[in-house]
Amino acid sequence: MKKLLLFAFASLIFASCGQQKPTKTIADLKAGIKGETTASAKYAAFAEKARLEGKDTVAKLFEAASKAESIHAANHTKALESLGEKMDDFKPEFQVKSTAENLQAAIDGESYEVNTMYPQFLADAKAEKVEKAEKSFNWAYETEKKHLAFYTKALAAVQAHKENTLPFNYAVCPVCGNTYDEATIPANCDFCGTSKDKFIKI
Ligand SMILES: [Fe+2]
Ligand SMILES: [Fe+2]
Repeated sequence: MKKLLLFAFASLIFASCGQQKPTKTIADLKAGIKGETTASAKYAAFAEKARLEGKDTVAKLFEAASKAESIHAANHTKALESLGEKMDDFKPEFQVKSTAENLQAAIDGESYEVNTMYPQFLADAKAEKVEKAEKSFNWAYETEKKHLAFYTKALAAVQAHKENTLPFNYAVCPVCGNTYDEATIPANCDFCGTSKDKFIKI
């Protein structure tokens, strides 16, 4: 009886503190880590394929995006661990085809993230008031919009056999993953304010 009363008391205290786990955000962070880790590995493989096809500018774009996605995965992981949770084991799965097909697959993946995945994740993190996750999702969301634009341009260039009109170098912000064409690097990152001296040159 004494034990039962103690348990009831503890439950009441816990409930009154509102300490409920943000279950949707935790599931979203795990899905986000899986998506970003898979995208990073996939783009690294697509970069190798582009080099084999002699499309060096496209290879550079895939390398820059691969680095950005690994930064997003790391940020999502930190947000997940701050909630006392750990990522489950998984194996990235993807297919490597021709560079034109790989670019289309990249466009499809980024479109899903921009139009469906991140808007939902952001709404969940906002509703559950998990600021760290919201920030990480937002940095990824804004970066994926840029990746989508880069890939769309690259596919058009490949289809027109004009890969040499694409940027030759990129820079990636090590804090948020924002990805820049080397011709348009600002003094500080547009998303997180990090100085350009810290950017990773690709
Ligand atoms: Fe991306
Ligand atoms: Fe940044």
